[in-house]
Amino acid sequence: MVASVAVTKPRELQVQDEVVFPPFKFAHLFSQQCHADWRDALTSEGYYVVKEAIPTKEALIYRDRAHAYQEDFGLGYKWGDELTYKNECLPVHMKGGMIHGYGIGHEQWVWDVRTEPGVIDAFAKVWGTDQLVTSFDGASIMLPHRSDVPDVGAWEHTDQSPSRRGFYCVQGLVNLNENGPDDGGLMVLRGSSQLFEQFFDEHGRGGHKSWGPADWCGFSLEQQEWFLNRGCEWIKVCAGPGDLILWDSRTMHYNVTPSGNRDRVCTCQLTPASDILH
Ligand SMILES: [Fe+2]
Repeated sequence: MVASVAVTKPRELQVQDEVVFPPFKFAHLFSQQCHADWRDALTSEGYYVVKEAIPTKEALIYRDRAHAYQEDFGLGYKWGDELTYKNECLPVHMKGGMIHGYGIGHEQWVWDVRTEPGVIDAFAKVWGTDQLVTSFDGASIMLPHRSDVPDVGAWEHTDQSPSRRGFYCVQGLVNLNENGPDDGGLMVLRGSSQLFEQFFDEHGRGGHKSWGPADWCGFSLEQQEWFLNRGCEWIKVCAGPGDLILWDSRTMHYNVTPSGNRDRVCTCQLTPASDILH
């Protein structure tokens, strides 16, 4: 007869064993405030708004093109007619306006936003090179006064796996309309990027909540408490037309739908250095 033996590994070994991704050559980039420019704010706060990466006037034209794109589906949507602000008149979207399908990342208006000099310059500064590649993440067109958007609550997450150490990615959102506290948009947990690694060192890296992609990690309210107790604070990021919102993928975040009167329009992408592919 063989007795079963429960084997429990020491906590330190569990943490080490769970770190499976190899070291990343850019991991040090945002560990210290040593840049003497806005990258220091990105380091300490975990996010930064690059003002007028696109001139305001041009940004508002992109906003027009976004609405025209949505009208061109021919499902009945008409910008300015709130009777058409409902699911049956709109392309498939999630969370009140996020569009990831239809190859939207390759629409001309999205490419034009992505290749604006001020947008490229900001990412070039992040990575220290203008040799960049890009994701084709999507865009968001959130319309006000909708009654058919279910309230799914907050979905606080990072877009970096606990299994990575150090910096890995900056995400970018080009805001295309005036965006204030009531207009829907990005919520960030200020300061959380610098605590990301410590949190998982103390709590372990296994069993975190995820939808599946290795670089999506959800956080419970109890887990958020740990960050709040260390000075982090939830901030609704406000921005003007043409502002580029950057945030470290270790910064906890989610989005909210509009409660005010304005539409929220933006495109979203990740733009890493091409060195990552080598
Ligand atoms: Fe995210």
